[in-house]
Amino acid sequence: LTPERYPVQRLPFSTVSEEDLAAFERIIPGRVVTDPEQLETCNVDWLRSVRGCSKVLLRPQTSEEVSQILRHCYQRNLAVNPQGGNTGMVGGSVPVFDEVILSTALMNQVISFHDVSGILVCQAGCVLEELSRYVQARDFIMPLDLGAKGSCHIGGNVATNAGGLRFLRYGSLRGTVLGLEVVLADGTILNCLTSLRKDNTGYDLKQLFIGSEGTLGVITAVSILCPPRPKAVNVAFLGCPGFAEVLQTFSTCKGMLGEILSAFEFMDTECMQLVGQHLHLTNPVQESPFYVLVETSGSSAAHDAEKLTGVLEQVLNSGLVSDGTMATDQRKIQMLWALRERITEALSRDGYVFKYDISLPVERLYDLVIDVRTRLGPRAKHVVGYGHLGDGNLHLNVTAEAFSQELLGALEPYVYAWTAEQRGSVSAEHGLGFKKKNVLSYSKPPEAVKLMQQLKVMLDPKGILNPYKTLPAQA
Ligand code: FAD
Ligand code: MLT
Ligand code: ZN
Repeated sequence: LTPERYPVQRLPFSTVSEEDLAAFERIIPGRVVTDPEQLETCNVDWLRSVRGCSKVLLRPQTSEEVSQILRHCYQRNLAVNPQGGNTGMVGGSVPVFDEVILSTALMNQVISFHDVSGILVCQAGCVLEELSRYVQARDFIMPLDLGAKGSCHIGGNVATNAGGLRFLRYGSLRGTVLGLEVVLADGTILNCLTSLRKDNTGYDLKQLFIGSEGTLGVITAVSILCPPRPKAVNVAFLGCPGFAEVLQTFSTCKGMLGEILSAFEFMDTECMQLVGQHLHLTNPVQESPFYVLVETSGSSAAHDAEKLTGVLEQVLNSGLVSDGTMATDQRKIQMLWALRERITEALSRDGYVFKYDISLPVERLYDLVIDVRTRLGPRAKHVVGYGHLGDGNLHLNVTAEAFSQELLGALEPYVYAWTAEQRGSVSAEHGLGFKKKNVLSYSKPPEAVKLMQQLKVMLDPKGILNPYKTLPAQA
């Protein structure tokens, strides 16, 4: 961490001693990692934008082990960084200084699955893609999907309240997560791992931990409701001449597809150039200023294909779309999805990436990209916009050859003030982590920030869980 980029001071936590290592070794024999080479990858985030200097990685297998580890850390005043698949976008998943890294990688067991209700109960370290395969073999799907599925853990998904590609249809994890088991900072195991659709007994405590980014407790197990696997999935990939046409295409899709619409994603022409240049993916339609990916999921292949074809005819004939292609077979569907899902990867190969994950009124969604592009001019390599248009979620990304304080100064607080003016959110789905914790007040009133700080003190009085993350430092 460069102090100029992120002015932050280490808080007075203890330093891991030989006695601590011995205590950890007693709790999880053979699963205490101190080898610098192995520690390197978990000290650096996916974007390679922040780096910690932890000297120890712990790999528990059970909630009881997590509890004993936290009890020890709490007594010894050792700071802890919970880590899942380390795919987070805001620097929350890696230590800032020498925090103990507590990984869920070995907590990867399915506990139960019920094939009538579709309720899956599993440990927090299960990889999303593996869970997807597990439930698909039983004719269900996970209610969430994201480009990081091959690495991210369900616990990390819940801890960040990840949105992703199925949000439009299946909604937030706040609705599909039915129960959680969480280990609190002092080692207490909070077992709220129920599998009930309805439960109004007192406050819904699990909601506190969904999206809390490892600052209030360590999620050790998740109970989640899986929808039945749709019998028919169709994807259309369309080129639009302008953003107004993208919006009208969205309205048309909602109107004509109704309940079978399961995704409406968009990307601009610069995104397409980047996936072409860095990943050699080919554009399946005529070059256009914007592209949208429309997915339907339903129970009748012929009926759904007919509906989507009807939409295509309508949008092509009315000039909302200049070119389009449709896929019903798995291979082509995946090929079309890759164009959208792999933008993140293409951007990271383009240089240093300044990432913004914004919720805005959908009509104004792309204006921010245009304004930023004009504002930065040739100082940026690329200014791109893509994201979950159906959910009002823009990913504004700016690339440059290297990090530059000057570029950062041109972007911030401009982007945040612009968003606040529209009463948008400065973090739609990625969370605040380390990099965005100081911008919380652009989207929340002081009373809300204060209450968050009070909750943090109540649940983690010594502040050992993921310090320097999510909440602004208190005066
Ligand atoms: P990590 O990155 O390891 O951790 C993220 C945060 O959660 C950290 O603060 C960490 O301390 C905390 N944490 C992790 N596990 C636990 C636990 N068990 N208990 C308590 N705290 C914990 N996000 C979206 O919302 N939508 C997307 O579409 C999307 N697409 C992505 C595509 C790519 C290619 C990549 C690289 C990332 C994407 N993300 C997306 C970012 C997203 O937040 C993560 O991929 C995912 O939810 C994080 O899971 P993880 O297991 O990797 O968590
Ligand atoms: C996405 O939607 O692709 C993810 O949120 C990752 C990103 O913002 O790049
Ligand atoms: Zn996203």
